[in-house]
Amino acid sequence: MRDEFERIFGAAPSGVWAAPGRVNLIGEHTDYNEGFVLPIALPQAVRVAAAPRSDGRLRLYSAQGDDVVTDLLVDRLAPGAVTSWAGYPAGVVWALREAGHRIGGADLYFDSDVPTGAGLSSSAALECAVAVAFRDLYQLELTSAELALLAQRAENDFAGVPCGVMDQMASSSCVEGAALFLDTRPQPSAGGTPTQPSDRGTSAGGTPTQPATVLNYRQVPFRPAEQGLALLVIDTRVKHDLGDGAYATLRAGCERAAELLGLAALRDLSAEALPAALAVLDGHPGELGPLVRHVVTEDERVVRAVELLDKGDFAALGPILTAGHASLRDDFKVSCAETDLAADTAVAAGALGARMTGGGFGGSVIALVPQELATAVEEAVEAAFLAAGWAAPKVFATVAAAGARRLD
Ligand code: GLA
Repeated sequence: MRDEFERIFGAAPSGVWAAPGRVNLIGEHTDYNEGFVLPIALPQAVRVAAAPRSDGRLRLYSAQGDDVVTDLLVDRLAPGAVTSWAGYPAGVVWALREAGHRIGGADLYFDSDVPTGAGLSSSAALECAVAVAFRDLYQLELTSAELALLAQRAENDFAGVPCGVMDQMASSSCVEGAALFLDTRPQPSAGGTPTQPSDRGTSAGGTPTQPATVLNYRQVPFRPAEQGLALLVIDTRVKHDLGDGAYATLRAGCERAAELLGLAALRDLSAEALPAALAVLDGHPGELGPLVRHVVTEDERVVRAVELLDKGDFAALGPILTAGHASLRDDFKVSCAETDLAADTAVAAGALGARMTGGGFGGSVIALVPQELATAVEEAVEAAFLAAGWAAPKVFATVAAAGARRLD
């Protein structure tokens, strides 16, 4: 990374940082309903070698790009102005400045092994790598949750993607060997005091003008290998175009349902109150009832999964994964033929449970499998895809890895 940075930018970088992709164990389409999620960080990460610049230029180069340096001026950054991959790092720099942090420019060299277009949050990894590098380059006093919220702002308001905060929180705040149990309901911070153990930088390089928001989260041990289990990621290698507009439509549907039910967010609807809520929504257009049922039952699945992981009962997570997939398929309707076939085939071949992970309409499936069956499950899914006339999926075993950090 250092040599390549020097080759491109002509001087040595100040350091190298990394931020990972993620898979979500359970808690899908709950984050923008202020509910619960349980992601892990992947070992695959975006790495960035970086050096500050005092002339206000932001120069970006990606080893996965087309061998051009994108050269921008930080005080000219505006939503919609940068449309390529460079919009994600540029958006983070914009969001930091919007939040009142006094930062200058930088030279950034990126290299990534996070599969793109696979529903594994390569864009959140890119954003969080930039956020953590700027935190250190400009000595900003920011917690990992604050970094995630800035990265989410970049994605929502600069890149124009209306995502929740799960992916950025997974990338910024996960630790090795654990899943992140996150309550996505933002909490106003009492006098700016974080409820998490402090991971702020050492000295302040700017004064934020926006009130601090806190997200409550906790690390839940997740080491299935210790019980002879493997977590497989099955990248179906399909991404249906439908996904982009459909995500915003689903989000709007959930928000409309909450409004009709007189709730701040669907997170506030209990399982006991669900039947009455479904009756209220019955007369309204837009099939809102099944969306609501998914969100309420999914939040319950997260809570149940955390109880089981706290007890160290990793195998019991399996049926929760499979139930989550059925809910995404039948109620939320974001699965597709490829993710359904991968999940169903994995279970039929001996997985304890399997589900699509991420936003849906393609992307990846996770499967929890006894280690001795991992190869058989992989081969069964490959055979099923070939029989369906589709390209073979990419299958790899994964572990809960570390969140954003300085490497060097
Ligand atoms: C995408 C979004 C997340 C979340 C998931 C669905 O990954 O970026 O915020 O909404 O979809 O759970």
